Formats: sequence, structure tokens, C-alpha cells
Amino acid sequence: MKDKLIIFDTTLRDGEQSPGASMTLDEKVRIAKALERMRVDVIEAGFPIASQGDFEAVQAVARTIKDSRICGLARAIDKDIDRAGEALKDAVAPRIHTFIATSPIHMEMKLRMSPDQVLDQAVAAVKRARQYTDDVEFSPEDAGRSDLDFLCRILEAVIDAGATTLNIPDTVGYNIPTQFGDLIHNLIERVPNSDKAIFSVHCHNDLGLAVANSLSAVHHGARQVECTINGLGERAGNAALEEIVMAIKTRQDIFECDVDLDTTQIMPCSRMVSSITGFKVQPNKAIVGANAFAHESGIHQDGVLKSRETYEIMRAEDVGWSANRMVLGKHSGRNAFRTRLKELGAEFASEEELNDAFGRFKDLADKKHEIFDDDLQALVTQTKISLENERYKLISLNVCSEMGETPNSSVTVSIDGQEQNASATGGGAVDASFKAIEEIVKSQTELQLYAVNNITSGTDSQGEVTVRLEKEGRIVNGQGADTDIVIASAKAYINGLNKIMRSEEKAHPQV
Ligand code: KIV
Ligand code: ZN
Repeated sequence: MKDKLIIFDTTLRDGEQSPGASMTLDEKVRIAKALERMRVDVIEAGFPIASQGDFEAVQAVARTIKDSRICGLARAIDKDIDRAGEALKDAVAPRIHTFIATSPIHMEMKLRMSPDQVLDQAVAAVKRARQYTDDVEFSPEDAGRSDLDFLCRILEAVIDAGATTLNIPDTVGYNIPTQFGDLIHNLIERVPNSDKAIFSVHCHNDLGLAVANSLSAVHHGARQVECTINGLGERAGNAALEEIVMAIKTRQDIFECDVDLDTTQIMPCSRMVSSITGFKVQPNKAIVGANAFAHESGIHQDGVLKSRETYEIMRAEDVGWSANRMVLGKHSGRNAFRTRLKELGAEFASEEELNDAFGRFKDLADKKHEIFDDDLQALVTQTKISLENERYKLISLNVCSEMGETPNSSVTVSIDGQEQNASATGGGAVDASFKAIEEIVKSQTELQLYAVNNITSGTDSQGEVTVRLEKEGRIVNGQGADTDIVIASAKAYINGLNKIMRSEEKAHPQV
């Protein structure tokens, strides 16, 4: 019997800390359900003290999910722990994850506390968290740059105080695999009561080593890995769940542990996270990138046709790739549509939502011959966006773009139900449309990023546009999809504006 490796997903917490990746309550619940379907062991649903919205989202996930453990993050402070305990009250299996920094630079510069004070606060936090649940995780933040003797001391003390999981973060992505593996080995060897807790790792990808460091730690005894879908996360991101899971599964000849996940849910989950956050997956990304199982060169293709093992170490269908087949077309009915969406994990709150989505599907099928799963995923996201009670709505857009002439765009937007129109010229059709919208809404947001991605191949593909907007330090990503990329761009801009209007002040756990 091999050990079990616990997969702890933090897409909804650390992933959401990526600039612009903030998600609504409904989006978080959708992702949590997709993770539950994948049989992820622990879902870190958020940082409840951050804002009222974050609290409610953790509470909603805790009330909805039954088969995965639900975790809430808390600094080692009473009010954080109480808020996490309250948000998790209705969870079938709640966990509180509390943390405090232990590296000399964080203790001196950020906390302005001595090591002994940090240790006392960590112990008090774990004891308080144990009043809410007997599943308490403790992280010495920036462990990757902390003193080994101090780490041993604080870990021994928090185990005595009741911590059941010890998570060792490489917060700034500074470690390299041999060093990080040694760290885990030394901690397990030297902490006298280490057998009473599970060792976990949480690696950031600043040097592109998050997955390698996590796997090295597993090799040296870690039995929980914290990771995110598509490697989303603060700065360069976290270890990618799909890479960790498939490395463990593919190299069972090396690892002394195994995971218990439905890997065919990886692709649907990856697409959902990408569609909701607007963070696109690079084509050459392992496991979930568009080219991950594509064979360009004739020699490779020939080899794969003769025997797939010549060049393939995993099967595309095992990670859910085969699901991206042409599923529906112009003549598909409501039932086929509903059934396929259900298989993709998309659920509708009401018949009204389903009808709206089906109407969009029919419109799309008129313009586009073949409808793929990626089209459906974007369609669900657009349906949910359009049904939200938003301040701004795009009513019409008319662009004139002619070679040698300055493009002009005329746009109608409704603001709180009142329609307003404006025209503007610009460097291109998109630029002119954004200027016309801005003329109406006068948002004074700054456009930080504009990206277009084709959802499927072919010139009839829907374009999926992401815009990143910034206003007074708040950053959001807006998305829009349409077979016409100027309309997709305007939808994305309006979506970004609505998000920035309702974005609320949030506390960041690590600042
Ligand atoms: O990177 C980090 O150290 C964290 C902690 C809160 C675990 O995200
Ligand atoms: Zn982190």
C-alpha cells in the first residue's frame, strides 16, 4: 500500500491573489464544484477576514461542497481565526490554515517581532483555531528563507499546540529542488514530534521551480502539496495542480505515494478557471496547453501512429482532452445542450438562465458551424455575466473601418437602465470603441492589458478578449467573447468596468 498524497488546491485563495483574478461568489462556487468533481482533497476557499465578499464566498463554498475538505486562511491573529471559524461553521469537513512569517527578514522588517514573540503567537493561534475544528494547518511563512533551528523549534511547539498539518512555504520562490528536498528531510528528521503531523509544501514559481521543488519535497516525505489550477497564483504563480498530479501518476515507479483524483476532470477545470479569470493558458504549457499532446513533426507523428508510447508518456484522454470534440451544432436541441453542459460541470441556477444560454447557443450555431466544449465554456461565462444585475450594459456598437481612413465607432451603453450614445475615432476599431465607451461612462480607469485569444481554430472562431483595468490600486480582468472581436472587446471592457465598480477593499493576507 502506498501513502496517499493529499492534494490541496488554493486556486480560490492564492490563485485569486494574482492581479485581476478576483472572482465573484458564484464563480468561486462553480470552481469549487469542479474541484470537488475532480476529488481534490482540500479546497482553500479564501481568506475570510479580507472582506465581507470573501467571507460570504468561503461560507457559500463551505455550505455547498460535501466531498472535499474546506479550508479558510487566517493570519495568526484572533480576529482572523474567529472569522475563518465562523465562515467554515457549516462545512462538513472544515480546516483552519493559520500562518506567521518566520524568516529573519520578514520577522524584522514586516512583523517587527522577535523569534520568541513569533513562536508564542503561532502557538496561541493554533490553540485558538483548535477551538473551532480539530483540523488545523500551520504555515511558517517564508520557510524557504528561515533558520532551520528556529523552524524546528516553532514546528515542534505548534504540533504540541494541536496543529495537524505543517505546511512549509517557499513564499518567494527562492529555493532549488535539492535544497528544498533537504529542508523537508531535515525537518521531518529533527522535529521530535514530526510523526504527529502531515508535512505539506507550498511553492511559488518565481524561478520556474515550483513543481520541481514540490516533487522534491514529496520525494523526501511531504504528504500534502498545495497547488493551483493552471499554476495561477501570486506573481509567477504556484505549483500547477495538473503537473503535480500527472507527474505522480506517470512516475509511480519513483514516488512512494499516489493521488486519488479523477484526472479526466483536469481539462474541464483548467478551461473553467481560464475562462473565469481571463488568465489564458500558454500553448506549450504542460498537460493543459493546446500543444501539450499535439505532434508537429512528421517523424513524431509517424512514431505515434505506430505506437503512441514512442513519444507520449501520458494519454490525452486521461486528462480530459478527448472531451474537446465537436459536440453540438445548429440542429442540436435543448436536451443535448443541457446534457453536455452538465458533463462539463456547468449548472444553471434557473430555467431562465438555461433559456438565455440556449438562445446564445443558437445564435452562435448560426454563425459557427461546429461548437466545441471551449465555446460552451465561454458561453456559460457570458450568460452568467449578462444575467448579473450590472450597472453598465452594451446595447449596440457600430464601427466603420476602412483602409486608409480613421476608424470610427458609435456605441450605445445603458447605465442603470438609461441608454446613452457616443462616437469616437481611434487608431483602430477597438481603440475607437473603447474611447466611445469611455466618453459615456467616464470611468477614468487605466487599461493595463488587452489580449485576444481565439477560443477554437478557424476564422469563424469566437474571439475571447481579456482587458485588465486599474483604478485607485484596484485591478480587475474583464472578459468578452464573440465571433466579432470588436464586439468581444467592447463586452470585455464593459465587464471590466462593472467589476471595478463593485470591487471592494480587501485585506491582503501577506502584506
Ligand atoms: O506563499 C505563502 O507563504 C502563502 C502562505 C499564506 C501559506 O501563501
Ligand atoms: Zn502563497
